[in-house]
Parts: sequence; C-alpha cells; structure tokens
Amino acid sequence: MTVTLAIIGAGARGASYARIAHEEGLAAVVAVADPDPARRAALAREFGIAEDRLFTDWRELTDRPRLADAVVIATPDRLHTEPALACADLGYHLLLEKPMAPTEAEARRIVEAAVRNDVLLAVCHVLRYTPYSLELKRLISQGRIGEIVSVEHLEPVGWWHQAHSYVRGQWAVEAESSSMLLAKSCHDIDWLGHLLGKPVAQVSSFGGLQHFRPENRPDGAGDRCVTCPVERTCAYSAVRIYERFLGDPVHEKWPLGVLTEDVSPEGLRRALAEGPYGVCVYSGRNDVVDHQVVNLLYEGGATASFTMTAFTALDFRKTRVFGTHGSLEGDGRTITLHDFLTDTVQTFDLDPDGGASAADGHGGADNALIRAFTAALRTGDRSLISSGPEETLASHLVVWAAERARREKSVVSVGE
Ligand SMILES: NC(=O)c1ccc[n+]([C@@H]2O[C@H](COP(=O)([O-])OP(=O)(O)OC[C@H]3O[C@@H](n4cnc5c(N)ncnc54)[C@H](O)[C@@H]3O)[C@@H](O)[C@H]2O)c1
Repeated sequence: MTVTLAIIGAGARGASYARIAHEEGLAAVVAVADPDPARRAALAREFGIAEDRLFTDWRELTDRPRLADAVVIATPDRLHTEPALACADLGYHLLLEKPMAPTEAEARRIVEAAVRNDVLLAVCHVLRYTPYSLELKRLISQGRIGEIVSVEHLEPVGWWHQAHSYVRGQWAVEAESSSMLLAKSCHDIDWLGHLLGKPVAQVSSFGGLQHFRPENRPDGAGDRCVTCPVERTCAYSAVRIYERFLGDPVHEKWPLGVLTEDVSPEGLRRALAEGPYGVCVYSGRNDVVDHQVVNLLYEGGATASFTMTAFTALDFRKTRVFGTHGSLEGDGRTITLHDFLTDTVQTFDLDPDGGASAADGHGGADNALIRAFTAALRTGDRSLISSGPEETLASHLVVWAAERARREKSVVSVGE
C-alpha cells in the first residue's frame, strides 16, 4: 500500500517532511495547501502534484472530501488548531508540528478530535525517534543504571540560531508564536519525560531576555548590518552569519531559504537590506527569553534540571542521567555508561545522520519520525508512534506549568 500525504504549510518543515517521504519512497505527496504561490509551485514541480490539488489555504483542502491518507500540518504555531480539527473530522491521520497549539484549551480540542475520529495523531517531537534516543531509553528500561535519581540536560541553541529564529525570525515575539519554552524547548521537556517514564509533579523556572536588548547595542551601531559601521566587530552580524552559507546546498535550504528564494550573493544582500533577517539584533522587537532553567520534580522523587541557552555553538543536546547503580552521559553522538558495581565504562557510538540543525534534519531525527509515521499508517501499528495526543498533551502541560512558574516566581504543581 502506498501511503498518500497532503501538505498543509509548504514552508521549511512541510517541504522537508514531503522531501523525506518522497526521497525514501515512504509516501506519495498528492496535495499541497499554502498561500505562497512559489512554495506551492515548488512542491508541485518536485513531487508532480496535479493542478487541481494545489490549494491557497487549508480551508480549500478541507472543503473537499478526503484526498489522502494523512495530512502534514506545518503551518505557523498559531495556525495548527483549526486545520487539525477540520482534518481529523474528515478522517485524515495527522502529522502535526509542535507545539500542538499555543494554549491548553486548543491542545485539548485537538486531542479530543483525534480520539473521537479514531485517527492517528503524531506530534513532531522528532527527538524521541532517533537511534540515539532509542538506545538511551533501552539502557534505562533494562535497568542498566538502576533507578533514575537525577538528570542534567542542556539545550545549546547556538548563538546564530538564536539570532536567526528567536531574535530576527518567526519565534522572536511570543504573541505572534509561542514562548521560547513552548516553541523550542517543548522538545526537551517532552524528551526528558519520555526518558524518565514518569509524570512531572512540580516545576520551578527562571530565565529572561538578557542580551538581545536595545541597551546592549554597541556604540555607533546601525539599524541594519549591511550598512552598520561596527558590523565587522559584531558576532551577530547578519552578513557574517549568512554569507558563509552561500553555495552550500544544505544550508541554502535552511537557514538561507527562510530569508530568500534567491540564494545568490545578490539575493542574500537584497534580503539583508530589505527583510527582517538583516535587522540589528539589538533593535528591541523580540521579547522571548535567551536563557532559561527549569527544575522538574517527577512522581516518585527523581529530579531533573534543564538549561536552554542561546550562548553556545549550535550542537546536539547534552544529557547526564544519574541512577542508583550507574550513570549515563550522552552528547547526541555517543553514550557513555558507567556501571558502579564493576566500576567499568562502556561506550555506545550512535553516529547521527549529519549535524544537529534543521539543515541536517536534526541529525536524522526528521527522517526517523517520517519512517515511523508512514510505517504506522502502512501497518496500522500505532505503537510505532510514541508522541501521540496523550503523551504530547502531558508534556505540553509541563511546559505551560514551567512558564507560569517563571512568570509568577513560584513552584507550580502540574495539573493544578
Ligand atoms: N519539529 C521541529 O523540530 C520543528 C522545527 C522548526 C519548526 N517547527 C514548527 O513547524 C511549524 C512550521 O514551521 P516552519 O519553519 O516550516 O515555518 P514556515 O513559515 O517556513 O512555514 C509555514 C508555512 O505555512 C504557510 N501557511 C500560512 N497560512 C496558511 C494557511 N492558511 N493554509 C496553508 N498554509 C499556510 C505559510 O505560507 C508557510 O509556507 C511551526 O509550528 C514551527 O514551530 C518544528
């Protein structure tokens, strides 16, 4: 059986999932809905989609009877709920980008619609699906380190990635997208819960926007990097950040493809001179945090500390898991297990598929998710999907509780 997919939102994520499904022969991409004519046309060309299956809005697609097995919903954060509800009611299986929705009420409506219509809903918490994560989970489940007591987890966002997505880009302003914790670190809160296999009881959190503020603007700086007199001494210069990716086919898709369809030196210059990605990082438009810590208390007493920070290289997450009989250390590439009984160390090389960024499909995580989703559709085995409605709602609830704790400077009981 060939699985068929319709893409709602043909931007960076929607196009990338479609490409993976097509290139790996996992599914046929048969329809696309996106208001951007260039994006629609690009997908139509790449996957041979018929003219009458190109839609300018998700509503045009859902006005028709179901025309594919599943939809990929990769619209902006605040535009997930309505298409998800409409598609579930039409009987589409759903691959839904994270976050499910910006609010708990909307996320609950999506869960209810998926359950009521008995459709498969997979949320794109891609980190759960990598060989690295599966190996960590296996070692923990086999009791190789005893009972987990403490976890330390770092999300190194990367200095230029923060500037690109969370200062100049789509997730810079919370009211237009989501909090940083929901937009970016919902992956981490979800992944930690998956690893520990226990519900979170209480959370606390601190963090803020420390650096990317107007008061940190260097003396003499201009409004745009292309004309800024101090551009050469600024680590966040858009010219320096983006020019090095010219001619690199991987990075032409991301991040350059986000700035412009014309990835020539002239096209980039124009984007930097006119578009949002050439604006000074100290302009003051952005309001999401650039660093945050979350402390989590799990039922049964285990604790985890999570740090998200902009001020790193863009790299894989780093995690240390401390158990009663051993400890694990992982950096996205290698896992080291220290067994206390024998006082020996064992190393597992997981060799991720490329680097940690979206350009590389998050080290193969995106491909792993698409394989799991299409296999679940092909075989009917829904256990292949670990990021279903209930699991995702549970981990989003922790994110919302942590954000409340940060804003109210309090300790919040999850589900309170
Ligand atoms: N899982 C991950 O690791 C990951 C990584 C990055 C982004 N995301 C999430 O994926 C989603 C999409 O992000 P992106 O980077 O692809 O954004 P994007 O802006 O590149 O793509 C969004 C697309 O949706 C289209 N769109 C807008 N209104 C529409 C409508 N009414 N009907 C149909 N299409 C419409 C836009 O034209 C655009 O092409 C976001 O929710 C984001 O948070 C997830």
